[in-house]
Amino acid sequence: MTSALATGRRTPKPRRIDDKMRFGLMWPNSPSPNVTSVEVAKRNPDVLDINSHITLAQTAERIGVDFVFFADGYTNHGLDNARVGHGEPCVSAPIWAPIVMAATEHLGVVTTMHARYLSPVVLARLGANLDVLSGGRWGWNIVPGAKGSEAKLFGLSDTIEHDERYQVVAETLEAVRALWGARGEPIKFDGKYYHLEGIPRGPYPVQESPVIFNAGVSPAGQEFIASSADYAFFAVVDDLAKVTATVRQLAEKTAAHGRDPREVNLAGSTGVVIARTSAEAAEKFAWIKDSLDMDAARGWARGFLAGSQTYQANFDQELDEAARKIGIAAGSRVLVGTAADIAEQLIEIHRVTGLRGFMLVNLLWAPEEVELLGDVFPILERAGVWETPESRGWSW
Ligand SMILES: Cc1cc2nc3c(=O)[nH]c(=O)nc-3n(C[C@H](O)[C@H](O)[C@H](O)COP(=O)(O)O)c2cc1C
Repeated sequence: MTSALATGRRTPKPRRIDDKMRFGLMWPNSPSPNVTSVEVAKRNPDVLDINSHITLAQTAERIGVDFVFFADGYTNHGLDNARVGHGEPCVSAPIWAPIVMAATEHLGVVTTMHARYLSPVVLARLGANLDVLSGGRWGWNIVPGAKGSEAKLFGLSDTIEHDERYQVVAETLEAVRALWGARGEPIKFDGKYYHLEGIPRGPYPVQESPVIFNAGVSPAGQEFIASSADYAFFAVVDDLAKVTATVRQLAEKTAAHGRDPREVNLAGSTGVVIARTSAEAAEKFAWIKDSLDMDAARGWARGFLAGSQTYQANFDQELDEAARKIGIAAGSRVLVGTAADIAEQLIEIHRVTGLRGFMLVNLLWAPEEVELLGDVFPILERAGVWETPESRGWSW
């Protein structure tokens, strides 16, 4: 055991709307979740070792990360990806999240769970238990399930149209919220996809409504987020004009639903390669790029391009060119350098695009790598764009 599990009071995370930055950390759920590279997979810790998760969770909380985010899925990205340890094996989000919850006191823990694959009754029950277990620090990344291979594995039709997937997502969330609201009383839910009746068993969530994330920023995805979610998760691509457009469109859509535009935050995923000197960071990044497995990168790119309208628009280029980008941090812009260099780049993205929320995607995810990010936050604080989670009540 590297360290004892945290005991004592767990602090719920209130929603606080302000202009300060928030930071999530993409949780390592496979040997190399963010780069299609066997060399990177070998350099990272053992993803199936619970101690790696405990140490990383405590590191993330100590340095000032607001939440961690477990992506998830039921089929791999392709045989080449599985061969290099990219997304294979992949730990199950709702099963491994409690380890992070038990090891920390304040960190938000977001799990991906798919709308189409599980009944709202199962989703409501898993979610309520995760929220209680964490003392009100759980968030749900509700995804539609966009992969044809997963639909096939579940025996579902894979012809469901892109925009209809978000109708399923919206109704699933509505049904789950009805189940959470039951609090021991009978409920009846009649929708297009679900008909539910009865008294669901407790426990019920600690948060009045657990924080909802969604990772689709196509017009249909944004419509769902603006009406019903709290955080949109998307890739910060190199072309910042595209990021600015997404930030603006989502704010407009949120306002059109009668909500304060700041009520919906964005978690923009940005790759990170950090080191104590700029030269060392550049060297690390060059090594990562050189180790890229192009067959696996093509597999990942094909998956994103097939399932996401946003990726089709952002990576409208020849497959190998798209794969070289998507094979690293799913096509997100990669910030490379010392803590000071990375802080400067984050401030620049914030200044140019208005983005306030970031999902840090460490290409190398050993706790010592993530620990280096701890020096970024004080610089952001001095620049007036970030406050410690503690000073704002650990709010989302
Ligand atoms: C960086 C990133 C990570 C994603 N992770 C997952 C995931 O873990 N599981 C999943 O089923 N879908 C995942 N998705 C897919 C999205 O949920 C969504 O279905 C897809 O991006 C289509 O979005 P669109 O509305 O922009 O077209 C991810 C998308 C992005 C951009």
